[in-house]
Amino acid sequence: MQTCKKISEFVYSVGSSDKRLELFENLFPIPDGVSYNSYLIADEKTAVLDGVDKSVEDEFFSNLDAALCGRTLDYIIVNHLEPDHGAAVRELVARYPDAELIGNAKTKPIAANFFGAETAAKMRAVADGETLSLGKTSLKFIMTPMVHWPESMMCFDEYSGILFSQDAFGSFGSVDGNVFDGENEFTPQYVDEMRRYYTNIVGKYGAQVTAVLNKASALDIKMICPVHGLILKERIGEVFALYKKWASFEAEKKGVFIAYASMYGNTKRAAFALGSVLGENGVEVVIADVSKTDVSYLVANSFKYRNIVVASPTYNGAIYPKIDSYLSDIKMLGLSNRRFSIIENGSWAPVAGKAVVEKIAQLKNCGIIGDVVTVKGATVADGEIEKLAAAIVEDLSR
Ligand code: FEO
Repeated sequence: MQTCKKISEFVYSVGSSDKRLELFENLFPIPDGVSYNSYLIADEKTAVLDGVDKSVEDEFFSNLDAALCGRTLDYIIVNHLEPDHGAAVRELVARYPDAELIGNAKTKPIAANFFGAETAAKMRAVADGETLSLGKTSLKFIMTPMVHWPESMMCFDEYSGILFSQDAFGSFGSVDGNVFDGENEFTPQYVDEMRRYYTNIVGKYGAQVTAVLNKASALDIKMICPVHGLILKERIGEVFALYKKWASFEAEKKGVFIAYASMYGNTKRAAFALGSVLGENGVEVVIADVSKTDVSYLVANSFKYRNIVVASPTYNGAIYPKIDSYLSDIKMLGLSNRRFSIIENGSWAPVAGKAVVEKIAQLKNCGIIGDVVTVKGATVADGEIEKLAAAIVEDLSR
């Protein structure tokens, strides 16, 4: 049994998917699993680009055997060494001892840390712009530091127009049948998962991603082969446009994301009351309960929408912990260029609003829209929600 697929004249997809893993990086929920893509180029010379996670090593080696058709490997190219790809490198080196191991100057010390000095010593370091000829295929190496590790690089084959992009342009979710971005595969839900993957894993490195996009814009790209998710052929322009926005921390949509916490349902009622008025005014609204929504989804929606409403009970004289954690996450990821509005709750001494304002002041180019709405227990002054909604609607008109 194998699932290797020929995807161009000389290139085979030889990776596989894991549907059992609950948390990617032991952190992010992946209800639809994740794929670990690897590619074999079988031209006059053969090269495998990136390994896979240990969970799919058996399938990977079975696919690789099938695609090689009895040939051996000439090159093992390590574009990215993180263990969700690098785990199989040790076994690749053991099975194909004559293959040349290729990385770059920053890969070598990391390879030594994971595989030992002996394996790292075998690695040839290529430089930015250097090429490797495999026959008609000629791989040009492009250094892409911090997208998503310091040693990360990509390869571009001018003959086929394929960009082997490692983590960039990937997504959560298994690849179930068709490996390409067909209309049954590249769905709005897929884009949601692509956004959640990007914003949480690479989101912090917007400047470095912008540098990659600038380098890529000079290439005649016909196909993008990432190490997670679908291979892109039809949607390259759409995905580049999304990446451009995400990398520059520009919102995709003028709309409102409301992140609320509620202990007894009263802050929730205020959040939904605001959402209701906004909805009546034609505003796109998404509401999430931070206590039951993994923060990775909150982050993704915070990158998507321009306006964000934070609704927090006062807890131990401070911000409700789950809201505090969400605000810390978006700060760590460098979210900027957003407009925030605030609802606080406090039965006897509401202070969460002031504390949220102080946290938002730490975000780059973010402002506050409207006055803080205070819910006292289950009571909010008449007209306060409507007043805040009007301020947000007015801001969205700009
Ligand atoms: Fe999929 Fe940064 O590893």
